[in-house]
Amino acid sequence: MGIDYSESIPNNVNLSDDRKLQRALERWQPKFLEWWNTQGPDGFHSKDVYLRTATSVDAKGWATYDETKMPDYRWGIFLANQKPDRTIGFGDHKGEPVWQEVPGEQRATLRRLIVTQGDTEPASVEQQRQLGKTCPSLYDLRNLFQVNVEEGRHLWAMVYLLHAHFGRDGREEAEMLLTRHSGDQDNPRILGTFNEPISDWLSFFCFTYFTDRDGKYQLKMLAESAFDPLARTCEFMLTEEAHHMFVGETGLGRIIARTYEVMNELKTDDPATIRAAGAIDLPTLQRYFNFWFSSSLDLFGSDVSTNAANFFASGLKGRPDEGKYDDDHVCRNAFIEIEKPTPNGTGIEIEQVAMRNAMNMISRDAYAADCAIGVVRWNRAIKKAGIEFEIKLPHQRFRRNVGLWAGFHFDPTGDALSPEKWQARQIEWLPSEDDRAHIKSLMICVTEPGKMAGWIAPPARGINNLGVDYEYVRL
Ligand SMILES: [Fe+2]
Ligand SMILES: [Fe+2]
Repeated sequence: MGIDYSESIPNNVNLSDDRKLQRALERWQPKFLEWWNTQGPDGFHSKDVYLRTATSVDAKGWATYDETKMPDYRWGIFLANQKPDRTIGFGDHKGEPVWQEVPGEQRATLRRLIVTQGDTEPASVEQQRQLGKTCPSLYDLRNLFQVNVEEGRHLWAMVYLLHAHFGRDGREEAEMLLTRHSGDQDNPRILGTFNEPISDWLSFFCFTYFTDRDGKYQLKMLAESAFDPLARTCEFMLTEEAHHMFVGETGLGRIIARTYEVMNELKTDDPATIRAAGAIDLPTLQRYFNFWFSSSLDLFGSDVSTNAANFFASGLKGRPDEGKYDDDHVCRNAFIEIEKPTPNGTGIEIEQVAMRNAMNMISRDAYAADCAIGVVRWNRAIKKAGIEFEIKLPHQRFRRNVGLWAGFHFDPTGDALSPEKWQARQIEWLPSEDDRAHIKSLMICVTEPGKMAGWIAPPARGINNLGVDYEYVRL
């Protein structure tokens, strides 16, 4: 179904057929714009940005590119096409027809899932609000804004579901999605990671690589949902999310490329010399990766979880790419071995748990494997440049605040440490004040078309076949 852009809220859900819903969303729309203007990218509202907008939801050619002022971006409601005769793919209701309406007994749980997902979308825009002022290039500035407007659209996606399927409670939740703010003392965003400011571009690229990828996996799980409107919404969000993954992976790859270029020019691997040349040494990058990977793992929740088991059993949330998991999509009598700390915390033991209770862990493992793909690519490039250094993702036990390993200490290889040893050594593994000060010192705004800040290599190509030196944002 095509998208109707003649309406004030572009959509492919025949919104005009439901006047009550349309009016409710039209009342929410100015509040969203007010939020964008006060909480969105600071200082760029009047600038033309080379942005893509969805024109249809099929796999090919859904995007159109145009110069747009961000407040004029056509945020709307786009669901992937309905699959006729789609049935529930997992859990106790496997094989039954999917739900077009929310079953009464699932109402509160589904609302909570949608609100929690929805809350992360505007949160990340708020976190990244000041980044434009220190962009390393116009190309990167444009990519930041593209991510931001799409996170705004993801908020629309969740608000549509709340308005369309949860009545008055849903409308109230939609209001609150605009009144909680990232880092707000009194009214913070729901999940911890989304209250941390992202004040430098290395953190932004780490966020889009590691934390947006968590988002990708949450969407993959919800795209399996028995509640069909949620599944279809998430399926389309995933096509937008692919760009966010691209921004993270290529951003980090370009930082690494610039670093080995400087190392080869100066024939050095001394971090202080590399820093003096205005680049980011690889050990500092490694510490940032350790921080963001471990923080993003926590977003999957407890390793063993009755909530996760219930979500799976009732059909609300599957495993990412559920179809790829063996033959058993019910998992009623399935067990899995998990590692856990011994009661005294000094060792590791194996326990058998019901597979359904381990769904968070299973999804997190799929996420971790996906994170490792980019690392392999970067290491290949580092090796090809003749540099001896290998980036490694830390062990999943490292620096965890949620789940079985929280409260215990491990080094990046997964070996247990006493609290004293951890205290003494964590500075080797996590960004220090000194690291952060160096990164901060590199954050200067570069806005001449085609020019890059000294700590990042140019991209291999521009956006939509345009040159790297295209004026992606007209300042
Ligand atoms: Fe998103
Ligand atoms: Fe995203």
